[in-house]
Amino acid sequence: MAIHTRENYWILETDRTAYAFGLDADGVLTHCYWGARLPYVDDYPAPPVVQVWASFNGPEHRRREEYPTPTGLKYVEPSFKAVYADGVRDTVLTFARAEVVDDATLHITLNDTHYPLTITLIYTVHPKYDLIERAVKVTNTGSDAIRLERAFSASWHIPAGMGWHLRHLTGKWFDEFQLTREPLTEGVKVLESRRITTSHHHNPFFTLDRDASESTGDVYFGALAWSGTWKLAAEIPAGFDTPRVSIGLNDWDFARVLNAGETFTTPSALAGYTDAGYTGASQCLHNYIRARVVPHPQHLRPVLYNAWEAAMFDFDAQKQMALAEIAAELGIELFVMDDGWFKGRYHDSAGLGDWTPDAQRFPEGLTPLIERVNTLGMDFGLWIEPEMVNPDSDLYRAHPDWVIHYATRARTEARNQLILNLARSDVQDYLINTLDALLSAHNIAFIKWDMNRNVSEPGWHDAPHDPRELWVRYVEGVYRVWGTLRERHPKVLWQSCSGGGGRADIGILRFADQIWVSDNTLATSRLNIQHGFSQLFPASVMEAWVTDGTWTPDHTVVPVSLEYRFHAAMCGVLGVGTNLFHLSDAEKRETRRWIDFYKNIRHIVQFGDQYRLADPRSGYAAVQYVDSEQRDGVLFAFRTFIADPALPLRFMLRGLDPQARYTVEGFDGVRSGKAWMHTPLEISLGNLQSTARRITRV
Ligand code: GLA
Repeated sequence: MAIHTRENYWILETDRTAYAFGLDADGVLTHCYWGARLPYVDDYPAPPVVQVWASFNGPEHRRREEYPTPTGLKYVEPSFKAVYADGVRDTVLTFARAEVVDDATLHITLNDTHYPLTITLIYTVHPKYDLIERAVKVTNTGSDAIRLERAFSASWHIPAGMGWHLRHLTGKWFDEFQLTREPLTEGVKVLESRRITTSHHHNPFFTLDRDASESTGDVYFGALAWSGTWKLAAEIPAGFDTPRVSIGLNDWDFARVLNAGETFTTPSALAGYTDAGYTGASQCLHNYIRARVVPHPQHLRPVLYNAWEAAMFDFDAQKQMALAEIAAELGIELFVMDDGWFKGRYHDSAGLGDWTPDAQRFPEGLTPLIERVNTLGMDFGLWIEPEMVNPDSDLYRAHPDWVIHYATRARTEARNQLILNLARSDVQDYLINTLDALLSAHNIAFIKWDMNRNVSEPGWHDAPHDPRELWVRYVEGVYRVWGTLRERHPKVLWQSCSGGGGRADIGILRFADQIWVSDNTLATSRLNIQHGFSQLFPASVMEAWVTDGTWTPDHTVVPVSLEYRFHAAMCGVLGVGTNLFHLSDAEKRETRRWIDFYKNIRHIVQFGDQYRLADPRSGYAAVQYVDSEQRDGVLFAFRTFIADPALPLRFMLRGLDPQARYTVEGFDGVRSGKAWMHTPLEISLGNLQSTARRITRV
């Protein structure tokens, strides 16, 4: 049982942690404890008695309210804001009831004291993963409409006091998942997306610690399972030391109207505590995502080939077949045809929306190519970008009204395309029918679902309630389309791509098994990107390709060897994107060798525990994976660039069974796991050199 109760007090216990809250003397639902699990139910502290601090502040600045709403002398970030029919804009909640729904789910229901509004705080405990999941269900139990203007998923309170540091992921296209750590000071630090999708710029993920390292220290961490606009407000109320992180749907331009009897449920927020440092936090999330979120948890991810960087828009069926022949020789298991296969798509200014094979390139349709690929022993995968339309397409000519736009404004194009309004059910139905037909007619094992721009002119002229509902209803629409297709075609593996890593979040991973992390495939850049990505996501969802990519955006060439590129891509789900026509026989042999090597270790990388041994920003990167039985491991180490004379990379292995004995490739002796984990090892590498070492229990 993960949920324990005392009088008006609830304790959520995971295997190693506990989270407790209760009604304080004023009847306010107050956070009381989050940290290591304690031996007895009575160990958890009662809600503190909070006093008003002068006439300028109500008790709320010191009180740690589970779900603060605006009322009284409260100036902290609220989690919720509604406007009632008579224009009243504050919400006063009283406790109504608590219901233990099952072993792991608790519902706390709060009612407004005057208006017919019910808020149910939904807590789900994931004991094995040391995670607490929260969502909020809001119901209008009356007859007049209620307009929600903010509905966050959770406020997470961390222990009172100062000295906290916030870690988060920032970046841009071609440069996603850059890990940042900064002091959390008084005031509000906001991270957000206003782009209708998760975005390359920030990710809805955080950690908070005072003095943690990869392997030690207390870390609080969390993420939002949502693929649209979102907001995270990390706050220390000025003058008071009660830090908290509020997370949920972005309230920028947000509205949700609840008519009589209607309900709205927020996306889930997940959070946890660990005393095992940043690695501990990552592993809770990795294990949870792998076991409980992705559609195909047990499925060993295939090695794929994708011809985008090699062919771009310059191909036909024969060229794809010729690439497939070579791919098969190299040991590729999944052959993916990227952009350019559908009607009129000879460049990026036409075709999006018309999801039928281009008759010039594929006069007999896709089937001959797919059959050839299958005969060669590979699965076939396809690229689509369902949410988009080019003005130069049959779909747009038929339905110019289907795009997100304001009638009186120009429709700003990006990459020559506009966004279909997936908040509309007719657009959703069109996509479901079109893509279902495509999947039903062909033997397609994998779909890369792309999204190559962000929103502009967010209008919805015939919105049923309020056009600002667009932001949330759009994502609900994406989930409906994707979810329906997934149900109808359960074997298909899906990849989430948005010009690289623009839509990477726990929400999309309920549909997609893999994420295309970045369009930047330069191995040295990838090491940083992968380091950031791994904070939240497991290697089994991190698609990484070896490409010809040895250039930077300004086209300076970095001479990165094939070995180095393979090592970097093998840290996740290996793919190949090189121009196969340009490979020499020696390069083909080498490629084949690395693919074979990966097939031997991928169960460790994809399903094992990951340890970051060196931060790529130091000039060295090192990542170790150990399988769940602590039998086999693999270590990848890289040097990017350090001016010589450089000291060697120094590290200690992690995650081994202390008593068992292991060999480590490249080092002498059979030693205990404990010995390998307590004696520093050194590897000497030159600039742009890398190595992969097997770790084997004897
Ligand atoms: C995006 C993707 C690429 C490729 C192109 C195709 O940029 O991130 O991998 O699929 O679109 O247009």
